[in-house]
Amino acid sequence: MPALVLLGAQWGDEGKGKATDLLGGSVDYVVRYQGGNNAGHTVVVGDQKYALHLLPSGILTPECTPVIGNGVVVDPAVLLSELSGLNERGVDTSKLLISGNAHLITPYHTTVDKVTERFLGKRKIGTTGRGIGPAYADKINRVGIRVQDLYDESILQQKVEAALDGKNQILAKLYNRRAIDPAQIVEELLGYGEQIKPYVADTTLILNNALDEDKVVLFEGGQGTLLDVDHGTYPFVTSSNPTAGGACTGTGVGPTKISRVIGILKAYTTRVGAGPFPTELFDEDGEALRRIGGERGVTTGRDRRCGWFDAPIARYATRVNGLTDFFLTKLDVLTGWEQIPVCVAYEIDGKRVEELPYNQTDFHHAKPVYENLPGWSEDISKAKTFDDLPKNAQAYVKALEEMSGAPISAIGVGPGRTETIEINSFI
Ligand code: GDP
Ligand code: IMO
Ligand code: MG
Repeated sequence: MPALVLLGAQWGDEGKGKATDLLGGSVDYVVRYQGGNNAGHTVVVGDQKYALHLLPSGILTPECTPVIGNGVVVDPAVLLSELSGLNERGVDTSKLLISGNAHLITPYHTTVDKVTERFLGKRKIGTTGRGIGPAYADKINRVGIRVQDLYDESILQQKVEAALDGKNQILAKLYNRRAIDPAQIVEELLGYGEQIKPYVADTTLILNNALDEDKVVLFEGGQGTLLDVDHGTYPFVTSSNPTAGGACTGTGVGPTKISRVIGILKAYTTRVGAGPFPTELFDEDGEALRRIGGERGVTTGRDRRCGWFDAPIARYATRVNGLTDFFLTKLDVLTGWEQIPVCVAYEIDGKRVEELPYNQTDFHHAKPVYENLPGWSEDISKAKTFDDLPKNAQAYVKALEEMSGAPISAIGVGPGRTETIEINSFI
């Protein structure tokens, strides 16, 4: 059985954690391939709620091996505190594997992230402040520190000095901040290195061997398609590739091994941070979606911006990821509306446009063209099959499927593991 990718089809927070956890019982490996602890993935198991940031959601399934791939940026302090938090709750984390090629987020990356945002003022991105952008910038600039560098003190020292040389000039002269002492950083990193050593491995080799042995590997994306640095609403994006291609570069598994790409799609739309969002609501409907959907950031605690479903975005996600299926989440949140508007196209400068415009200025001007679909008032949280849903909820799902360009193979009707309608099996 080849590999599967599970990724966000919108601007993140679609319910990837729950979907990954649900599949965890049938897969051998769950692998994060990009991003870092900017992610906040919620998993609800019985009466227990877990918020995972850096660790793959498969960590909660004992049979599953969780893997942090080379494409992830790892803050070792966060990693250790997340691991000990789970251990205190009785979760066994001993199977975790971390790529020696993954880059590290160090305290100077978080500092640079925060001061840069402050300096941007009104033009800020609204990052999570976790050092993600600066860590990826160092990787691309070839002054990054990798996990494997923690095990060669002299190399580590040279690399930290090289990385801080320029940064200290900028921190002091541009941002009026105190310079960071490389020796202190090296000492701190060496301490973390000792603690994470048992997990560090050649994950590319392990994953490819596993696939050769017919094991099932699930790649879990962080963030979402519209936050992708290449395919998202640049510059209001994250600094990695959550789209399907990122699963290959971020793990060292070739595209020929991937058989299924599942897009996690919320039945409405949310976004955290700055940037265009055509269907955003500023009225009581937006407030109601936020309240009923519990739309508050898992990582930063910020209120999420909320709006109606946007079909051109779903179609775009199908296209740039080669989606084979959708997992539609949070359908239950829409219960109680008499009419549910769905954005079917945009109006840009007086013209109707069916697809997401590639031009950023056009997207900033895009006004949604809505079609109203009839709502339902019955509680759907106990529905187990598609036929259990009220007719109007069935019609809403079918309409979204038609507009989005890939079959909807599962539907979320509540946050819990069991609150899911499975239509086509994923594995
Ligand atoms: P992720 O970042 O994509 O993993 O998503 P988040 O965890 O940030 O946000 C999704 C939220 O929706 C979490 O609070 C989940 O527990 C919750 N959730 C996931 N699926 C469903 C669903 O089908 N219905 C409801 N009501 N909540 C859901
Ligand atoms: P999950 O995996 C929603 C957003 C931030 C900001 C932009 C850049 O839970 O879906 P960064 O710190 O990455 O440089 O911030 O990206 N962002 C997310 N929004 N869900 C996430 O993760 C996000 N991770 C980053 O709000 O707008
Ligand atoms: Mg999230």
